[in-house]
Amino acid sequence: MAIRIEAHNLHKTFGSTRAVNGVSLEVHEGEAYGLVGPDGAGKTTTMRLLVGALTSEEGSVHIDGHDLRTRTEQARARVGYLAQRFSLYTDLTVAENIQFFGEVRGVVGPAFVARAAELLQFVGLAGFEQRLAGLLSGGMKQKLGLACALIHRPGVLLLDEPSGGVDPVTRQDFWQLIIRLLTDEGLAVIVSTPYMDEAVRCNRIGFMYGGQVLVEGPPRELTARLDGRVLEVVARPGMTARQVCLENAEVEDAVVFGDRLHLRLGERYARREGDQQHPDLASLVLRLSQALEAEGVRVARLRPIAPGLEDVFISLLQQQGEAR
Ligand SMILES: Nc1ncnc2c1ncn2[C@@H]1O[C@H](COP(=O)(O)OP(=O)(O)OP(=O)(O)O)[C@@H](O)[C@H]1O
Ligand SMILES: [Mg+2]
Repeated sequence: MAIRIEAHNLHKTFGSTRAVNGVSLEVHEGEAYGLVGPDGAGKTTTMRLLVGALTSEEGSVHIDGHDLRTRTEQARARVGYLAQRFSLYTDLTVAENIQFFGEVRGVVGPAFVARAAELLQFVGLAGFEQRLAGLLSGGMKQKLGLACALIHRPGVLLLDEPSGGVDPVTRQDFWQLIIRLLTDEGLAVIVSTPYMDEAVRCNRIGFMYGGQVLVEGPPRELTARLDGRVLEVVARPGMTARQVCLENAEVEDAVVFGDRLHLRLGERYARREGDQQHPDLASLVLRLSQALEAEGVRVARLRPIAPGLEDVFISLLQQQGEAR
């Protein structure tokens, strides 16, 4: 599969803030790359460097083989960008908004008419052409934003938190569109998201923190690092349960997820692919439940579970904190 986005050693400093500090990434045709990371990690700045809205102080960006520095127009023409806080013209209609983006991208006349109709159909907004953009629902606005970003048939699509504030059903819909762009049109997509259920859909994920991509890989490879090392606890009262668990030297961390607790066990419990669980795990589970009950905690559940991306990222953030 051809490489559509190739970024090497990107750097961007604002005053004393190293917003992006040595980011390199490659995204292939038909691939979705998820950029995840906490607020201020540098996700938006990375995207702005990739579209050429900002210039990297070092390194290089190639889009479909065009060097963003020397073949700026060609490179930019290959990119569609849906900014984090993108704005439609609320007092213009759906049709007028897409026409505006068409003109900006030089898509006019019969080519525009055909492409606009095709895109409005694709995103499910056919029939809404005359509605004011300001009167669209949050999900419909996102879809119109997507249509506008695609007007010039880019090969690369950058979506910065496209489902911020959008309900889960609409998010699901939006992903169906992205998947079609990947599989039917071979786009390369970079999407930043705070939602792990969204990140897990990507072919690869890069976890950003402090302007750097700390780890990168397919979701399954990232979670494999913690195979065998996560226990789920449902117990009352939750805070006492957490304290009791943390007193056990085998428990590295106890993180609250809603009404559950995830215990992360030490490295020695790590399970290699195909291996059975660690022989000492059953006795650890028993000891933990005895300790909990001895403190008057009612345990509804205590069992090993498959690690999620949240578990991986929390452990990475902790390692970073310790390293500092
Ligand atoms: N134009 C700017 N001027 C000064 N500082 C900036 C500018 N843009 C970003 N920053 C800083 O750079 C860092 C990275 O910001 P960026 O917006 O790229 O993060 P992000 O990962 O997109 O965060 P979020 O999840 O909140 O969108 C932050 O510390 C931010 O305050
Ligand atoms: Mg951002």
